[in-house]
Order: sequence, then C-alpha cells, then structure tokens
Amino acid sequence: MCGIVGYIGKQDASNIVLSGLKRLEYRGYDSYGICFIEKDKHHLFKRVGKIEKTEQDFLNKNFKGSVCIAHNRWATTGLVNEENAHPHCDCKEEIFVVHNGIVENYKELKEKLIKEGHKFSSETDTEVIAHLIEKYYKDNLENAVKRALDDIRGTYGLVVASVKEPDKIVVARMSSPLIIGVGDNEFLVASDPSAIISRTRQIINLDDGEIAVLEVNNIRIYKEEKESKKDIQIIDWDIELAEKDGHEHFMLKEIMEEPNVIEDAMRGRLLDDMGMVKLGGLEGVENKLREINSLSLVGCGTAYYACRVGKYMIEEYADIPVEVDFGSEFRYKKPIIKKDGGILFVSQSGETADTLSCLKEMKEKGALTLGITNVVGSSQARETDAGVYTRSGPEISVASTKAFLGQLTVLVLVTIYLGRQRNMSMVMGKRIIDELKRIPELAKKILKQKEEIEKIAQKYKEYKNFWFIGRKYNYPIALEGALKLKEISYVHAEGVAGGELKHGPLALVEESFPTIAICPSDSVYDKMISNIEEIKARKGLVIAIATEGNEEIKKIVDDVIYIPKTLEMLTPLLSVIPLHLFAYYFAKSLKRDIDRPRNLAKSVTVE
Ligand code: F6R
Repeated sequence: MCGIVGYIGKQDASNIVLSGLKRLEYRGYDSYGICFIEKDKHHLFKRVGKIEKTEQDFLNKNFKGSVCIAHNRWATTGLVNEENAHPHCDCKEEIFVVHNGIVENYKELKEKLIKEGHKFSSETDTEVIAHLIEKYYKDNLENAVKRALDDIRGTYGLVVASVKEPDKIVVARMSSPLIIGVGDNEFLVASDPSAIISRTRQIINLDDGEIAVLEVNNIRIYKEEKESKKDIQIIDWDIELAEKDGHEHFMLKEIMEEPNVIEDAMRGRLLDDMGMVKLGGLEGVENKLREINSLSLVGCGTAYYACRVGKYMIEEYADIPVEVDFGSEFRYKKPIIKKDGGILFVSQSGETADTLSCLKEMKEKGALTLGITNVVGSSQARETDAGVYTRSGPEISVASTKAFLGQLTVLVLVTIYLGRQRNMSMVMGKRIIDELKRIPELAKKILKQKEEIEKIAQKYKEYKNFWFIGRKYNYPIALEGALKLKEISYVHAEGVAGGELKHGPLALVEESFPTIAICPSDSVYDKMISNIEEIKARKGLVIAIATEGNEEIKKIVDDVIYIPKTLEMLTPLLSVIPLHLFAYYFAKSLKRDIDRPRNLAKSVTVE
C-alpha cells in the first residue's frame, strides 16, 4: 500500500498534490515526496513522517509548476528514510517515478543494471523501474516505459515524468489501483478518488495492463499496442467514503483486502519447483535456524492467536517444539535461554510495549531473536536479529483483521522454510505451496457470502453471550473470533477448545447462549460434531463454519456458513474470514463505533 497523486494541467499543482497526498495518508504515512517537472529541470522535496509536520517546509520552498508527481510511502522494501521515499529517479536525474506495488524480480534486475553501470541511491525495488526506463529511453517516454515494464514481474500502479518531455505524464497499472481524473484542461492521477474528488468527479478507471499518456489537452490509453476506448465515470460518493473505497468502515475495507494481503505476503517468495520459500530477511541467520531445536512464539491479542496457529504448523511440519506466550506474561516468568533455541515475535505494529519489552530482555540475554512485523522500520523490525515483513499495508481500524491474515501467511512460509531445512520432503513443500497459492481465490469466494453472513449476524443481534469453539488449528481461530466480537460489539464472547466444554463451560449452555462452532472437514471433525451435539442436547443454538459440500451438518445446527476445502494447516486462513465478517456486521447492527471501539487504541505502547 502506498498513495500516488499526479497532475498535468495549466494551474500550479503544489496545493492540489499536497491536499491529495493528505487525503491518501491512510494508505501510507512513513514518508512522502513531491517532484515538479519542467524542461530540463526538476524540483524534488522528500520528508520522513506525517505530512502535517513538514508541509510548511514544503510551502516555504515555494515550488511552482503544472506537471507534478507525488507519493505517500508505506515501506515494503528498504527502511523508512528520505533516500527510500519516492519519487525515484535514474542516474541522470531526468526520469522520475512513483510506484505502488512490488517488483518481485528487483534484485536480479538491480544486479544486472549495476553491472551495466547504473548507480542506485536507494534500497527500494521501485528505483529499478527508473533505471530500466533510462536504459530503454530513445526520445519517447511511453515507449521506454512499455519496454521497461516487459522486464518487470510483480504489481504496479506507476506514474512517470521526465524533464526531457515535460509536456506529458505516463501512467501504468498492474494489480495496484490507479485512476485518472478528467478536469478542465487538466488531468489528475491518484490511487483512489478521495485524492482528487475536490477537483473533479469525472474519472477513468485504468485496467490491468493499460498504459495512459496524459498531456494537458489529450489522453491516450493503450493495451498491448492497441488504443483502448474508455468511458468516463462520475463519482457520486463523498470524500470519506472514497477513502474507504466505498465501504462504510475501514474494518470492512480491510476485511475485503484479506485475499490481497495473503497474495502480497507470499509474492516473490515461493520457489515452487523446489518446494521451498525464499525469505530474504532470514538469510543472515540461515545456519543458526538450521541448528535450533526449540522455538518460543510471543505476541499480544490477535498476533498472539497467530502464534498459536503457528505452533501447530511448525510442530507438525518442521518438527520443532514450540511454546507460545503473551508478551505481557513472557517477560515476568523465568526466561530459560536455550542455546539451540530461538524466539519469534509477532506484531502488526512492531511497537507493542509488552512484546518489545520481552524482545529487549531476551536480546540482552543473548537469545536468537526473530520477528514477523507489518511496519517496516518499526522498533521490533530494528531490534530483532532477523525477520520477515507481512506487507499487509496500513491497518487503520483498531481491530486487527487483515494483518492477522498476513501473519498467518508468513507463518506458513516460515514453517516451509524451517521444515525444508529438516525433514519436510520436496513433495510436501510443493503441496503446501500449491495449496497456499489457491487461498486468495478461495478467500474471495468467502467474501462473496458477506450478505448471507450479515443476515446471520442480524438474526443473532439480541444475544448477549457467545461461545466460539474449535479444535487444533481452529482453536486459536475460536479465540480470535471471540476477541473480535467482544472488542467491537461489547457483548460477552469466549473462545473455548471444543474438548474443554465438558470440563466446565458446558454448564453455561442454554437457549440464550449461542455457539459458533468452527468445524471444517478435517482430522478433528468427528470430535467437533460430538461437541456440537452436547450443546444441542442442552438447547443451545449453533452456527457452524463448515466445509462446502457438507450438507449433513445442516440437520444438526441452526445456521451454517461454508468455507472451501483446503489443507488442514491452511484452514485458519479461511475459517477466520467469516468470523471477521460476523463480528463486523454484528457490531454494525448494534450501531457501534466500529473503527474506534471504546477504551482501545491501535498501537498499545504502554505495558
Ligand atoms: C485485536 C487487536 C489487538 C492487537 C494487539 C497486538 O483486534 O488489534 O489485540 O492484535 O494489541 O498488536 P500488534 O500486532 O501491533 O503487536
């Protein structure tokens, strides 16, 4: 996730792009950059941090111009600093690019370009695009962009401008959002309409594979050399809705992004033929990881539940015993440092005080510290010996949803990595990878049922207590489902391991205490059915999360939400999606402040 704004027209662009960037800060806010293009001249401004802190610096520079490209960064490759902020340029500082997406093959392209004499000034994947365009440039910017994109594997929303042809902007899109705003003698480009809606409501949606050339009075759009005819659409949303991509709340927007998050977390990291994964962030500790005989996983809240799922994965497929702890507990128990052990910290923000304090303590004691984090350059990312980013993009809603999917996906990759260092066969590695690649499509199928899930949530909206039950891989998902429901709807919800019901919790079951039972057709399905029957015998209502094709379950339970069949270890990546939707619609029916639930904060930086 990043935000892009561009302008070509007859007006001064400074305030237009600045206000556009501010509107897009929800897409990324670790740094930003603005570049004005003139004949043989450019003015470049970059700063780290939120715009409001430094916008006066920008305005004081008094840059003026009517061709401008700008970018809000959410770091994925390279630390948060001015060098890595966009726009990036070629060696001669003639071609400037802003980019949202991931260039999967950037390392090999960069090596080749360096051998050919190109000089790089950032660590980003984006900079290779500027140098490739420079390499292929022969008096026509759009031709050079087209040629450069042929070399690139990955995703992009891309805007390019050059001081050699200051009368045009070239725009390209592949799996990253980009729209063109059509104004009076002007065109705007943006990642979404919120950035430009105050200037024009007429937009053209670019499709994947399309390249547009914008001039003050002219637009040409091409796909595979052929000119495309595109309709202009009129935006009738307000600005706030546009930021949320038309969704009422960020939480729903973020749930709808879950398939993309899974895809982005694995992008460029799968070595399909070898049944292996490539995790650049672990390369430095590869040999140490080969030696470890135990692992502790530490996180808080939702991240802790991801650790609980990770335990099942790593123990089953990598044969390493795993302990899981809350950050807030781990620090106060006696830490036993094992020479052949490692500690893996999981955190969306990378700033959670409970998790960070354990990390600092364990580092001082000499433990091997690893991290899974979403925020590049966060304290956790800087402090750990090695780690993997989830690349989930900014999560705005306080309740964590898409970040959980990013964490689970990376945990699958880590499991394959550790497993293949040990006893996992190539065939098994390939099998998991093949199935993991299907998960984004299967996840989209679940999201298509959102209206039915909303109806079920509304049906149960008067209830004040809920059980969530699951076993094995789906026990942590029961915990996550209960947490999500309680934190945004303020009703009482508890997650219980299915087999534990009869050891106490069953005493509470009655008609007014419904249960959500996660019971996909896996190795513990029969046991889950016995638990459901125990509840039904006490008149408890049951909503089942079951595998598609299981018609039998309808005879036992009150409502069913279906998820597609997949490998047992990957079911949490699917079974949690209906629970996120259920919590969302339940809270919505109670008219709760969904994105900002009472008493809670997004990043918990106190212990
Ligand atoms: C729940 C939620 C919290 C966080 C927890 C850890 O929806 O958002 O439980 O998961 O505070 O935060 P991070 O992952 O940033 O360490």
